Amino acid sequence: MKRLVVVLAAGLGTRMKSPRAKVLHPLLGRPLLAHLLEALPRLKPSRIFVVAGHQRDEVAPLAEAFGAVPVIQEPQLGTGHALSLCRGPLEAEGEAEVLVVPGDAPLLPMEELARFWDGFTASRLPAAVVSMVLPEPENYGRVLRQGERLRAIREAKDCSPEERAIPEVNTGVYFLRSPEVFSLLSAIGRDNAQREYYLTDLFALLYREGRPAVLFRTSDPEAFLGINSQRELARANARLRASLVEAWMDAGVTVLDPGTTWIEPAVRLAPGVLLHPFVRLQGMTHLEEGVEVRSFSVLSDTEVGAGTLVKEHCVLEKTAVGPRCIVGPFSRTREGTVLGEGVHLGNFVETKKAALGRGVKANHLSYLGDATVGAGSNIGAGTITCNYDGEKKHRTVLGERVFVGSDTQLVAPVTVGDGAYIGAGTTVTQAVPPGALAVSRVPQRNIEGWVARKKKGPKAPEASSPPEGNPGS
Ligand code: UD1
Ligand code: CA
Repeated sequence: MKRLVVVLAAGLGTRMKSPRAKVLHPLLGRPLLAHLLEALPRLKPSRIFVVAGHQRDEVAPLAEAFGAVPVIQEPQLGTGHALSLCRGPLEAEGEAEVLVVPGDAPLLPMEELARFWDGFTASRLPAAVVSMVLPEPENYGRVLRQGERLRAIREAKDCSPEERAIPEVNTGVYFLRSPEVFSLLSAIGRDNAQREYYLTDLFALLYREGRPAVLFRTSDPEAFLGINSQRELARANARLRASLVEAWMDAGVTVLDPGTTWIEPAVRLAPGVLLHPFVRLQGMTHLEEGVEVRSFSVLSDTEVGAGTLVKEHCVLEKTAVGPRCIVGPFSRTREGTVLGEGVHLGNFVETKKAALGRGVKANHLSYLGDATVGAGSNIGAGTITCNYDGEKKHRTVLGERVFVGSDTQLVAPVTVGDGAYIGAGTTVTQAVPPGALAVSRVPQRNIEGWVARKKKGPKAPEASSPPEGNPGS
């Protein structure tokens, strides 16, 4: 039988008390909905529909990015209303089994769902509901049972005190046969505490018709917990973070302080990687064998070659770092930075769209933007590529073994040939030929006895204020 999935993701998530739609809140760096859409294809559905409403301008494109089909719900009148809007698109698929999941349960266990789905297929029943037992069921809909079968789901706000005491609740995950049970959605009313069309009322209707749903009880309630508040979001984040850090330790990564290490789901680490406290690895970051990352460094979408050391307080984004480099402390590499083997990048060096060849050293206080630096070159302290003329960006191209003296400005577009030297304090505005020395500084003059003449009186020079009010060194 054809398998389809519907994700209900149109709600604002009032209990989040946030202007942002709930399913767009990030869990370990990516939206709740993205976690789910990444995992669901493991169930091999032939199509996934996502009901979008609040912030659909962001939710619908996110769904499409994962190959899902958005269905717009406007206004949002409850989960029953949300699902009824899918009737048309679902019926167009012919007979099918439909898995309905809430968009706010990002860590649903796909292996268990696959087993439940097989059980549902074999049962030939019209519907199945996944339930869980919680010590504090709070706002979850309570399951009213009749043996293995479901008599009704009662929303917490509509429960009698006896019903509220029931610990078995609705996870919000359902298997429904289409089109068979979907016609009943139009019989659902909104005569309840929240004046909403409750999808959960479907099950009392099925019971009344003598074809009740079956209940599957999960053995892993934690994985089915919905995220309804900032506290629940933080708790889910902490659980997922801890489990990923532990999985990497099991794979041979040394994590000095697991409690403060942040590794996002798409990160890949080789055995022998060493992570110090408060390291944050984001996006598609990939560290090869023996890479060491020290405290307070944040790496995003960055690849790092074997044996490289990233010292404290570095921010590396969309960068490819070669093997055996030393980066930091306090280096910042921005998008399009490529560091060859054995590059040394020191404190307060910023790079952007810069390719530094093998063994290049830029150890202090520099900006290298839109630049190519050939192998073995040395960039002195305070070197700046002036890459922007106010309208366009221009490239600086340095050859191999170039020596750039301190406090040099390279006004792009400009080239420096292999083996050339640039004197400290030079403003390079024209091409420097290979092997040449470029200097542009004003020759130094010493004016003998100047201080004594300028400062009348007996004061010793070291006791007087410096000339022209310059700060002392
Ligand atoms: C729902 C169930 C409850 C269950 C719980 C499990 C109903 C009436 N109640 O309650 O029995 O225990 O899930 O997590 O279904 N949504 C829409 N359109 C809407 C309203 C909601 O798409 O008009 C989406 C939300 O974005 C969310 C999902 O449906 O992803 C569930 O909605 P939510 O408001 O979180 O329902 P709960 O109150 O948690
Ligand atoms: Ca919920």
